[in-house]
This record gives sequence, C-alpha cells and structure tokens, in this order.
Amino acid sequence: MNSLNDLIARYFSWCNRIEYPEEPRRLYDASRYFLESGGKKIRPILCLLGNDLFGEMSYDSFHAGYAIDLFHNSSLVHDDIIDHAPLRRGRPAIHIKYSLPTAILTGDIFIAYAFAHLNNVREQYRHQIHTQFSRVIIEVCEGQQMDFDLERRELQHVSYQEYLKMITLKTAALMGASIRIGAVIGGADSQEQAYLYEFGKNLGIAFQIYDDYLDAFGEPSETGKQPGGDILENKKTALLIKTWEAGSTSQKKALKNAMSKNGFEKVSAVLELYRNTKVDIWATDKTSEYTQKAFYCLDMITGVTAERKAGLIELTNQLLGRRC
Ligand code: IPE
Ligand code: IPE
Ligand code: MG
Ligand code: MG
Ligand code: MG
Repeated sequence: MNSLNDLIARYFSWCNRIEYPEEPRRLYDASRYFLESGGKKIRPILCLLGNDLFGEMSYDSFHAGYAIDLFHNSSLVHDDIIDHAPLRRGRPAIHIKYSLPTAILTGDIFIAYAFAHLNNVREQYRHQIHTQFSRVIIEVCEGQQMDFDLERRELQHVSYQEYLKMITLKTAALMGASIRIGAVIGGADSQEQAYLYEFGKNLGIAFQIYDDYLDAFGEPSETGKQPGGDILENKKTALLIKTWEAGSTSQKKALKNAMSKNGFEKVSAVLELYRNTKVDIWATDKTSEYTQKAFYCLDMITGVTAERKAGLIELTNQLLGRRC
C-alpha cells in the first residue's frame, strides 16, 4: 500500500525518464513543450490508485496510466483548437506557439504513443485494457463533438440533461476508465470494477461542473486559462444553462442581451447575472453533490479496507475547491 504522495512521486520519477525523438524538430519540440507544462496528473494517479486498492503496485499501471495521460494531453491540445483557447497551463496553447498543423499532429502523435505504451502491459490484461481504452477515446470524441454542437444551439433549446450527457462523455468517462483500468490490473472482480467506474464517473461530473465554475470565477493566474473563455465561446456550461433555467423572465432577457455582446463587455455582463442568480453557489453545491455520489460508490466496495481507500479519498477531497 502506498500513500498518495508516494504514488505521485513514483509516477513522476517513472515518467520523467521517457524520451521522445529529436526530428522532426517542431513536432517533438511542441510535444515536449506541452508534456513539460505540468498538469495535475489526476487520471494516471487514479489508475495507480485503482491498482493500489487491490494489490501490489504493478508496472502495468504505470504504462497504462502514462497512456491515459498521453491521451488526456492529446485531447487538451485539440480542445484548445476547438475552443479557440489561446492559453493552457499559463502558457500559449500549441496552435498559438507553434502552428495549427503542428498542434493537430502533436495531438495525433500523443494518441499513437499512448497505444505504443499500452503494448507494454502484460498480455493477460492487454486485450481488456486496450478495449476499454479505445472505447473511452471514442466517448471523449463524441462528447467533444456534442460540446461543439451545443455551442451553436440557442440557449432555450439546451437542457441540463443534455449537458450531463455531454460532460459524462467528454470528461467523466475518462476518469471512470482510468480507475477501472488500474483496478483490472490490481485484480478487482467485475462488480468492484463497475463500482469504481461509477466512482470515477461521478468524480468526473463533479470535476467538469467545477471546471465550468473556475472558467467563470477562477483566478486566471491560477487556472492558466483565458478569463471567461467559455462565455466568449458560447459554451453551454452548467452555469449558463442553470442561469437560464432558474432566471426570471427579465433575467432571461438580460442573459440573452449579455450573450449578444462581445469581448470583455460580454464576460462582465454574463458574470454579473451569474452572481445575481447565485449560480456560483449552486455550482459548488453540485460539485459537492456529485463528489458525495462518488464516495457512495466507493463505500459499496466492502472488500477493501478504509486504510486502502485513504489515498483515493485524499485525492478526491483535494479536487473539491481546487484552484486550477
Ligand atoms: C482539463 O483537465 C480538462 C477537463 C476535463 C476540464 P485537467 O484540469 O485535469 O487538466 P490538467 O492536465 O491538470 O492541465
Ligand atoms: C473538457 O472541456 C475538455 C476535454 C475533455 C478535453 P473544457 O474545454 O472545459 O476543458 P478546459 O477548460 O479547456 O481545460
Ligand atoms: Mg477548453
Ligand atoms: Mg472544450
Ligand atoms: Mg473548461
């Protein structure tokens, strides 16, 4: 059994030794630029924790966790193109710093390297993990397309249920898959795997609602993202949908008017409505609600001691109220 801090330290020292080719220079410079820009490493750590719940830590979880993290990074490089986001992790996004073609190729090559790393997983789990990994890539792409489609849809035609479906695909499915893949390697039975998937899924829903909150109310120097990026792009976030649904007739009118503005004026007008309707408090409450759902799924796993669950609980609590 490992403490959360030990697992994080082991993961960093393990993946820091991985090297990439030098040529073509722009492609691999961009790859290193992105991979070295940090990130919280939540998904690979979830994978390691999934293994650690059930048995001795296996190098298979490091390979699988690294593959998951490469795919996550790929999805961010492409996400910034889709979202016209100029900043990521406090630095220019790849399509800004390098070029659009280089950003597309960097995202693509991360996925190819991810599959190459999965091939290092022992044969007894390889097929099952490969299937789960391919499935979740499909789900993330489907969720990202939904996100893009909803951007273009009028506010009154988007429901909270659709939003939940979209974030389950684009964000929560990967969190669920990350911990389940680790649990497979640790030797969890199928019921335990299912509960852990639900744990990760609910954690992912909480995570994305809070990500929407941070996009509006976070400190740009901490989030490392453009302030109000979601508002500028007409993203159908939890905050926007809820403000529309709960707003009075005059607030709905004001919201439509605010959304028709541009730039800083648009962001400040929408934020004012968010504050007036107290949707910021609602979003943080929802984050807690889905986190509690996640904990409930973890409680359902009775064959694992509380001591072994401690790292997962610690990580989850760290994500509540995070600043980036
Ligand atoms: C960003 O995920 C994408 C979302 C699902 C909101 P993270 O916030 O985990 O990204 P990094 O890797 O820590 O930068
Ligand atoms: C999640 O959505 C992105 C992915 C699933 C890749 P966002 O577009 O909200 O993520 P950020 O806020 O840019 O990190
Ligand atoms: Mg984005
Ligand atoms: Mg996006
Ligand atoms: Mg976001």
